[in-house]
Amino acid sequence: MSANEDGHESAIKTPQQLIIVVVLSFVVPVIFLIMFAQFVLSATKPDASETAAEAVAARIKPVADITLSAGGGGGAAKTGEDVVKGACAACHATGAAGAPKIGDKGGWAARIGLGLDGLTKSAIKGKNAMPARGGVPDLSDFEIARAVVYMANQSGASFKEPAEPKAAKAAAK
Ligand code: HEC
Repeated sequence: MSANEDGHESAIKTPQQLIIVVVLSFVVPVIFLIMFAQFVLSATKPDASETAAEAVAARIKPVADITLSAGGGGGAAKTGEDVVKGACAACHATGAAGAPKIGDKGGWAARIGLGLDGLTKSAIKGKNAMPARGGVPDLSDFEIARAVVYMANQSGASFKEPAEPKAAKAAAK
């Protein structure tokens, strides 16, 4: 007695259809698993176009962001110390990626010779292993300059902090 005679409608009417349904019920979940595994793998794999230093910066950034938001008031320009702790210390406190260490006067002496403007330009544009703006694109030029002052002054320089630009002041108030 087939199910159809009991009044039930079955989509499966032939043995071939039964085989197809059985095969699909195995194959479809397997395909999903493979796609999911690939998705997870590609999500964790660092982008091949990233430099090693950028990958380091990206991995340590979440921690850095917490420090930043704890220190800086919403919208106002961050102090040099805040920026350095949040964005720059990852490399410059440890010497990671060949960065000149904060406080290492020997490592900074020649760089300080470039002057505050020269160093700020390097920090804004990036230099060799250092990503532009230390890998934090929303830092303003002024915040970068302050960070350079803070960093260099602990390493033998005596730069004066630049005046806050008017536009930034207005936006902060
Ligand atoms: C991913 C690591 C990394 C981060 C983050 C980073 N730096 Fe650097 N920085 C470097 C390295 C490496 C150098 C040395 C570059 C060179 O001369 O080859 C450097 C050099 C510098 C110099 C000297 C530039 C020169 O012309 O000699 C300054 C100034 C500087 N960094 C400022 C900053 C500031 C400000 C920040 C944060 C906003 C920052 N850096 C964040 C790695 C980093």
